[in-house]
Amino acid sequence: MYVQALALRDFRSYACVDLELVPGVNLFVGPNGHGKTNLMEAVGYIATLSSHRVSSDIPLVRRGASSAIVRCTVISEQRELLVELELVPGKANRARLNHSPVARPRAVLGALRSVLFAPEDLALIRGDPAERRRFIDDFLVTRSPRFAGVRADYDRALKQRNALLKSAGIRYRSGRRRGGNSTENEPNFADLPTLEVWNVHVARHGAELLAGRLAAIHDLSPYVEKAYHAVSESAAGARLGYSSSLTQALSKGTSCDSLNDDQTSLLSADKDVLRSQLLAGLAQVRSAELERGTTLVGPHRDDLILRLGELPAKGYASHGESWSYALALRLACFELLRAEGSEPVLILDDVFSELDNQRRKLLGDVAIKASQVLITAAVAEDIPSSLLQVRDTGARFDVADGVVRRVY
Ligand SMILES: Nc1ncnc2c1ncn2[C@@H]1O[C@H](COP(=O)(O)OP(=O)(O)OP(=O)(O)O)[C@@H](O)[C@H]1O
Ligand SMILES: [Mg+2]
Repeated sequence: MYVQALALRDFRSYACVDLELVPGVNLFVGPNGHGKTNLMEAVGYIATLSSHRVSSDIPLVRRGASSAIVRCTVISEQRELLVELELVPGKANRARLNHSPVARPRAVLGALRSVLFAPEDLALIRGDPAERRRFIDDFLVTRSPRFAGVRADYDRALKQRNALLKSAGIRYRSGRRRGGNSTENEPNFADLPTLEVWNVHVARHGAELLAGRLAAIHDLSPYVEKAYHAVSESAAGARLGYSSSLTQALSKGTSCDSLNDDQTSLLSADKDVLRSQLLAGLAQVRSAELERGTTLVGPHRDDLILRLGELPAKGYASHGESWSYALALRLACFELLRAEGSEPVLILDDVFSELDNQRRKLLGDVAIKASQVLITAAVAEDIPSSLLQVRDTGARFDVADGVVRRVY
């Protein structure tokens, strides 16, 4: 799979740019702030419908413009696919596949698969659990686009349930204060049957998401271990684990250390079993949820645990180790998708400058295997020589003052 053409209108700093890319190595070289990452972000957006830098679409639209267009021609198994997205902040984005409008942008997921590694990925190691949940869920969607629907259904059910808990919780607490007929374990008011309905939705979609995450972690783990070993000199192995609010709710009273117990093995891989476990978990924490007015059990409260030897990477890993770990996570995604036959486009945004010569060479060796790799660097000297030597098949673009010029 590769991107043959990329066209942007009013995307970030670009009023209008049209690029022809090549399979294999594509280099984008230019000074800081001249628009290299903006191009990578656009390709990443087509693949995931989100930016790796910002959560809102507003900064993606050129200042002064009201909407942006990203258009990509993707070649996959000799078939050509034109994917077009129109980003309209404050309104629903629109998408077209081969010129035909699709019902919702989600329908274009899977047309382009990419794995993007960027300096922002350090947050995977050092940031909040939300960063790691997003990493694993984005990977799920790349691997199997139907998870975009599962994720949206779960988020919707969770939002409704939280709204209900919030209003029910207010009455529950005021009922308790008045000493009314609500008891701590069995509050009695009209909202509870509706709550049961949302429990069922949250448990159904939550179980599917949870099962997908556990399977992804199981499959990614050996690749992460291998990639970390390759990109670091550390003897400590990188291992993935999962910290689950469900296990914690169900094992209340027994000792369950989210860090040391491997919760991936405590949780069932079967989504029907997970669904009943989630319902049981929700029942277990109901009074606490009414007190706090929010859902306390489910994949939205979980975390992907990144271990380095016996320690968690977060809070313990050095800068270099954290960087290697983040790189290993992305390379693992890339290698697993390749092993499953989907040949994703690899995007390496400004990563070589952080690596020493040995690691540069190593990453260069991985990149050269990709059906297509897009690489940005402020100076060409940072790019490993193996990637500079493919002048006859690769392409190099110089990016300066918002103009992208093909050099070879
Ligand atoms: N919505 C927008 N409208 C206009 N300009 C924008 C918008 N968003 C970002 N820019 C401009 O784009 C430029 C940043 O581009 P980009 O991040 O692609 O740079 P870069 O070449 O990757 O730099 P570096 O080498 O430092 O990573 C900045 O000058 C920024 O002001
Ligand atoms: Mg950049």
